Amino acid sequence: MKQQIEVLLHAAVDGLKEQGVLSDDAAPRIQLDRPRDKSHGDFASNLAMMLAKPAKKSPRELAQLIIDAIPANDVIAGCDIAGPGFINIRVNHQRIIDQLEQAFHDPRLGVGSSVDAQTIVIDYSSPNLAKEMHVGHLRSTIIGDAIARTLELQGHQVIRQNHVGDWGTQFGMLLAHMEDVQKESADVALQLSDLETFYKAAKKRFDAEPEFADRARALVVKLQGGDAYCLNLWRQFIDISLAHCQEVYDRLGVKLTRDDVMAESAYNDELHGIVALLRDKGLLVEDQGAQCVFLDEFTGKEGEPLPIIVQKKDGGFLYATTDLAAARYRAEKLHADRAIYVVDARQALHFNQIFTLARKAGLVPASMSMEHMGFGVVLGKDNRPFKSRDGGVTKLADLLSEAERRAGDLIASKNTDLSAEEQAHIASVVGIAAVKYADLSKNRTSDYVFDWDTMISFEGNTAPYLLYAYTRVNSMFQKAGLTMGDVEGAITLSTEQDTNLANKLAQFPEIITSVANKGMPHFLCGYLFELAGAFSSFYEACPILNSDDEALKASRLKLAALTARTLEQGLALLGIPVLKRM
Ligand code: ARG
Repeated sequence: MKQQIEVLLHAAVDGLKEQGVLSDDAAPRIQLDRPRDKSHGDFASNLAMMLAKPAKKSPRELAQLIIDAIPANDVIAGCDIAGPGFINIRVNHQRIIDQLEQAFHDPRLGVGSSVDAQTIVIDYSSPNLAKEMHVGHLRSTIIGDAIARTLELQGHQVIRQNHVGDWGTQFGMLLAHMEDVQKESADVALQLSDLETFYKAAKKRFDAEPEFADRARALVVKLQGGDAYCLNLWRQFIDISLAHCQEVYDRLGVKLTRDDVMAESAYNDELHGIVALLRDKGLLVEDQGAQCVFLDEFTGKEGEPLPIIVQKKDGGFLYATTDLAAARYRAEKLHADRAIYVVDARQALHFNQIFTLARKAGLVPASMSMEHMGFGVVLGKDNRPFKSRDGGVTKLADLLSEAERRAGDLIASKNTDLSAEEQAHIASVVGIAAVKYADLSKNRTSDYVFDWDTMISFEGNTAPYLLYAYTRVNSMFQKAGLTMGDVEGAITLSTEQDTNLANKLAQFPEIITSVANKGMPHFLCGYLFELAGAFSSFYEACPILNSDDEALKASRLKLAALTARTLEQGLALLGIPVLKRM
C-alpha cells in the first residue's frame, strides 16, 4: 500500500513537471510517514515542503497542486493539507480489507510478493575460536540471524557465512599448551571443555616462560607451513571450539550450522594471489618492509595516509588480506548480489577500506552491494562494558542459564496451575527470548545496556509481554473451540479500534521491507509491540465471542487470527518461538 501511494505521488510530481509547475530536474525522495495521531490520516508526506522553494510557491499552495495532480485511483480515500504544508493521506478502507483478506490466505502473510529475489550473503556471528564465545558475540549472532530470516521470508536466497577466526598467532600458544597437556596424557577434550580457562593458562605461560613462548612461535610457523603434526593438533582444537559455538547456537535457536562455517583458514591458499593481484594493479606500496595499499579516501586525523596492510614484513598475512579473499569468493563463487557484514561498529574503517579496495582491485563487480551493518557494544547497568560478577568476561553459556533461572522466577510468580515440567520449558523459552529481544529491540547502531530487570518483565516492549499477548489470542480460540485457519466470513471495519488494528496488520509487509533493506530488526520489534497494543485496545472495546452478530463475530475473529499469526511470524523472524500458554 505504501508503495502504491509512493507511485501515485511520483505520478503527481511528473504531472506537475509537464504542466511546468515543477522543473524537470526535480527528483524528490518521497518520504511517507505513518503519523501517530490517526486524525492526521494513515500517511503523511512533507513532499510539498521539500519542493516549494525551487517551485517558487508556498508549501500549502504546492500541496494542493500535488493533491490535484494525483491520478484517479482506488487506494487513496482522501487528502488534507495540514500545518505548514504536510499532505495527510487517508487510505481507502476497502483496500486495507482486501489486503488483509489476501494475507489471511497467504502463509507468508502477504510478504515478499513484490520483491525481486536476490542472492544475499550474510556474514554473522564469526567469533574467534581461540576463546569461548562471550557476550560480545551475542549481538552479531542474533542480529545477523534475524536479518537472515527476514530476507529469507522475502524470498531471497540467503547464504550464511560464519567467518570464524581460526588462524593467527594466538594459536601458537594454544598448541604449545595442548602439546604439554597431551604429554601428561590428560584428556584434551576434557581440558578444552572450559576454553576460557585453557586460554588463560596458555596465555599465562606465554607471558611468563620464555621457553614456552619460543616454542609457541615456532609452532605457528610450522602450522602455517602446513606441518601435519601441527595441523592435526590445531584441527582438534578447532573442532572442540566449534562444538562449543554450536551448543550456544542451538540454545539460542540461531539457524547457524557447521555447514555455514567458512573459516579464515579456508582462504589461506588465496592470500599470495591476492597480494600478487594488488601488485599487478599497481596498488601495492612497500612501507617499512610491509606490503600496503594506500587509498586517497582514507586518511588519519592529521590527514596522513592510512595504510591497509596486506602482508607483514615476516611474510604473514592479515585480517584484511583474508577479507579481500572472502569478498572475491562471495562475488565469484557465491554470486552474491548483496554481501552483508554484521560486525561490531568499531570495525567500520576496516570494512570501508576493504569494500573500496575490493572494488578498485576488481575483486568484486560494481553491481554487488557490500554493506557493513555495525552494532554498538554491550554495556552493564553502570554504562561500563558488561562484565561478569567476578569482573571477567561473561561466558554466553552462563548468561543464558541465568536468563532461564530468572524467567523461571517470573513465571512462577504469575502462574500456579502449570506442571513443573511445563514451567521449566516455558522458563527456558521466555529466558532466551528475553535476552534476544532486549538486544534486537534497540537500534543496533547504539551501545546497548544489558539489564535483567527490564528484559525479564511483562511490562513494556519485552519478549514476555509479546509472548503473553500471543497466548491470550490463542486461548480465546481454544475457548471457542476454533482453529485460526478456519474462520469464515468477511472483515468489516466498524469501530475506531478494529480499524486501528486492521491498519496495523496491513503495515506488516512494509515493516519487513524496511528491516530487510536497512538491517534494522528493532523496526520489527517496535511494530510488534504496537500491534500487541492495538490488539489490546481492540479486545477491550470490541466483544468477540460474546457478540450476537455472527458476521461481526467472524470479522473480529479474523482480525484476531491475523494478529496472532503476525505476532508468531514476527517473533519467528527474531528467532523466538511462541508458546501456547504461559
Ligand atoms: N572474527 C572477527 C572478530 O571477532 C569478526 C569477523 C567478521 N567478519 C569478517 N568478514 N571480517 O572480530
